[in-house]
Amino acid sequence: RNATVITEKGKITYVGENPHRAIHHQIIDGKGKALVPGLVNAHTHVPMTLLRSYADDMALHTWLYDHIFPVEDRLTPDDIYWGSQLAFLEMLAGGTTCFCDMYYFIDRIAEATENCGMKALLSRGLINGEQMKDYSKDERLKEAVEGFLQWNGAANGRVRIALAPHALYTCAPGYIRTIRDTAEKLGAMIHTHVDETAKEHQDCLDQYGKTPVEHLNDIGLFDIPTIAAHCVHVTEDDLDIMKKKKVTLAHNPGSNLKLGSGIAPVPTAMKKGVNVALGTDGASSNNNLNMWEEINLAALIHKGALMDPLAVKAHEAFMAATVNGAKALGFTNSGKICVGYQADMVLLNITKPHYLPEHNLVSNLAYSAQASDVETVFVDGKILYDRGEYKTLDKERILFEIRRIYQRLF
Ligand code: NI
Repeated sequence: RNATVITEKGKITYVGENPHRAIHHQIIDGKGKALVPGLVNAHTHVPMTLLRSYADDMALHTWLYDHIFPVEDRLTPDDIYWGSQLAFLEMLAGGTTCFCDMYYFIDRIAEATENCGMKALLSRGLINGEQMKDYSKDERLKEAVEGFLQWNGAANGRVRIALAPHALYTCAPGYIRTIRDTAEKLGAMIHTHVDETAKEHQDCLDQYGKTPVEHLNDIGLFDIPTIAAHCVHVTEDDLDIMKKKKVTLAHNPGSNLKLGSGIAPVPTAMKKGVNVALGTDGASSNNNLNMWEEINLAALIHKGALMDPLAVKAHEAFMAATVNGAKALGFTNSGKICVGYQADMVLLNITKPHYLPEHNLVSNLAYSAQASDVETVFVDGKILYDRGEYKTLDKERILFEIRRIYQRLF
C-alpha cells in the first residue's frame, strides 16, 4: 500500500514508501491499482489460436490424430506468424508477459516474439516414433538445433530456445536419448508433455513396464532442466523423482478438464516441494489463453476433487502463475516485484466492485480477478499494452490476416 516502484533500464531499482530519487522520465499513478508480476504461461502452443473451437468435445487421441494433425500439415510459416500474434493480443491484454511454447516454424514465432516485446522459451516440437540406429539426420531435430543456434538469447535475452520431445508416445526412446544428448551439448532446456492421459500412462506401463516419469528418467532426460506439461497421472514415486531431478510440473487445469484427462496431483506435488507452474496449453484445448482462469481453476479444482478446502491456497496458485513459471523458463530474475528483478509487471484496476471491500488482495487475485482488470503491461520496463492500446502489435492487421487464413484453411 502507498508504495512506489522505480524502474531503470528495464530493471526494478526501488520498491518502498519513501523514494528519494528525483529524476523521472515518466510517472504512472497507481492509485486504485495493484501492481503484480507479469503472468507466466508455462505451457502453450501459441499458433493454435488458429484452431480455436475447431474440434471440441472429444478425447485427446481423436482430437489430436483425426483433427489437429491433419490441419497442422497445411499451416504455412506465415500462418504461424500471424497465429502467434493473435495469441499475443490475447495474452498481453490479460497480463501475460512470458510464455513457454512448443510448435514448429519456430523462427517465425521467435520473430513475432522479438517484435512484440514479450519473453518466451520457444521450442520446436519433435516427433519421431521410428526405431533407428542413428537420429542425426532427423529433419525436425536439425531444425530445432538451428533454431537454438539462431535464437537462443536473442532480443536482449527475451527469447530462449528449448528442445522439445513432443511426448513419449510420439518419440522412440532412442530419439528421446538423442534429443537429451543434443540438449546437453547445447546447454538447452527440455520442454515436453508427460503423463497427460490414463491411456498414455497405461500404454507406457504395458510397453516399457514403467510409468512415463520413470521411463523418461531412465533415458536420462531429467538430467537436463525440464518443464513437464500436464503430469496428470503421475504417482507419488514419480513426484519424488521430479523433486529430486528439479523437474517443473506445468499444470494445465483448463486443458485437462476440457479434454477429460483428469486432475493432476498438484497438492501432493507442492507438498513434496516440486516446482509447480501454470499454463493454458494451446487455445485449441482450453479454449483461451487467459491465465487468470488457470489461477482460479488451480485454486479451486483440487479443493473440490479432494474435498479439502486447504488443497491449493490462493497465494500458491498465484505464485505458480508468476515466479515459479519464470524460474522454470530460465528467466530467473523475473516474476517478482523486487529490487534487482526485471520490470515485468502488470497494473490491475482494483477499484471494480468484485475487489471490494479490500480484505485480502491475494485472495482477490485468485478468486475474483478477471483478465479484463488488466490495465497496463510492462516487459523489461517497457509498456507493451495500456488500456486497450497495443504499443508493438498492429491489432487491425493481425485480425485481418487471421480472417484471411481462416478462409483459406477452412
Ligand atoms: Ni500441450
